[in-house]
Amino acid sequence: MPDERSGPSRRQVLVLAGTGVAAISLGSAGVIGRWGAGDGADDRAGTTPRGDAGGSALTEPDELRSAGGVLEARLRAVAGPVTLAGRTVHALSYNGSVPGPTLRLRPGDRVRVDVENALGAATNLHVHGLHVSPRGNGDNPLVRIEDGETFRYEYDVPPDHPTGTFWYHPHLHGLVADQLFGGLAGTIVIESDEDPELPAARERVLVVSDVSLDGDRVAAAGPMDVMAGREGELVLVNGQLRPSARVEPGSWEHWRVVNACTSRFLRLRLDGGELVQIGADAGHLAEPVEVDDVLLAPGNRVQLLARLGTAQARLTTLPVDRGDMGMGMGPGMGPGRGEQDATVLLELTGGATASDPPALPDRLVDLPDLREAAVDGRRTLTFAMGMGMGTGMGRGMAFTIDGREFDAQRVDTPVTVGTVEEWTIANVSPMDHPFHLHVWPVQVVARDGEPVQGPPQWLDVVNVPAGRTVTLRVRFADFPGLTVYHCHILDHEDLGMMGTLLAEAEPS
Ligand code: C2O
Ligand code: CU
Ligand code: CU
Repeated sequence: MPDERSGPSRRQVLVLAGTGVAAISLGSAGVIGRWGAGDGADDRAGTTPRGDAGGSALTEPDELRSAGGVLEARLRAVAGPVTLAGRTVHALSYNGSVPGPTLRLRPGDRVRVDVENALGAATNLHVHGLHVSPRGNGDNPLVRIEDGETFRYEYDVPPDHPTGTFWYHPHLHGLVADQLFGGLAGTIVIESDEDPELPAARERVLVVSDVSLDGDRVAAAGPMDVMAGREGELVLVNGQLRPSARVEPGSWEHWRVVNACTSRFLRLRLDGGELVQIGADAGHLAEPVEVDDVLLAPGNRVQLLARLGTAQARLTTLPVDRGDMGMGMGPGMGPGRGEQDATVLLELTGGATASDPPALPDRLVDLPDLREAAVDGRRTLTFAMGMGMGTGMGRGMAFTIDGREFDAQRVDTPVTVGTVEEWTIANVSPMDHPFHLHVWPVQVVARDGEPVQGPPQWLDVVNVPAGRTVTLRVRFADFPGLTVYHCHILDHEDLGMMGTLLAEAEPS
């Protein structure tokens, strides 16, 4: 995703009076310290691995593949011991590993997933980015699976579904951030024989997540962490701290990267190598794009071709300034502040050979472009943070869309199946909010009113920087039903920054 953050108006934001005072009164010193520049500076993943086993050989999650047009999978969500950052830790997992198994399926497949809940708390399962029905036991974010129960999800992936990298995670409002941070996430790959041919020696799934450990447990988040959006002290790849991998010299690898962090933004760079982006959230790009670095908001995915230019290279994530909580919070409070250095995610060895690398295709896929479409309706959704609007006990700040917190009983946005809408997402808060819509991918057509040029890109998470607007178009092609859109800083979603969308068939 190209960067939209430079520019003079980024900090011309609404500052909410009184915000700092109440927020400080809520935070405990220990929790506040997590964001401070002086605290934890030496024990982040990229600097000192805290005695954890860094450098182990990169592993990949197990795979569950569809066969004969059906994906049959069982995911047991369980609280118990798992290996995380090279240690045995009490965490949450699907089938005993973090991340959970990679689900590989094809357009046109039927998906039948049994989720067995052994967490000791209610949960459910969302397939992020999949264009499938939200009704009944489809990708229904309002399902509730009680502890001890098993729920069968079953739905069809349309035959014309884009191929790409998607993911799954729990979606029970109020518990999403805790359960994802605790370890519950996995990758979904949709692939087909018609995928563009890539000159890649191998493919890897790289799930980036972050976690903070408190002894042998996943650390709980305090009120300040939650409002800021918690960021873990350790940034992991496939549950490993700074693992290493060998690359065939001179060859391209195809990487499917998932930002499965609860709230952390990633800016990925390959020091000592080249990156070419070939896919974003909702499938392939129209053509390969060479990138120096690539920004992933929480929930974003990217497909990359990667190649080493030197004997050793490192995949790193650079600090991202995603704003702060407003006036009075002081420097170092904002997430991402005080982290000047890149965090190393993955160590690579292999290097270049003398011969030229395999050539890349000029074009990948043909993509629809809604910039030329007739628009049936326009609306604005306003993301805000404010004082005195919260309804929960002890809340310092309300996280709202159009002035309201989430209510599953209320329809916020009724749409008609078959129409194209243009939405302007206005962020009037001093912190970035990554907008996410379930079921239907979106095309960004303007930022701050400036039309977006270049080939179309289809996303399902679109960062809306602090004080800015993003305009997107979406075609509600099919799938009547009730679903949601929300901020993908999942702590904010749990605090109420989520709305409902009801798609109804056109009255005949
Ligand atoms: Cu990945 Cu509703 O979320
Ligand atoms: Cu989603
Ligand atoms: Cu947010």
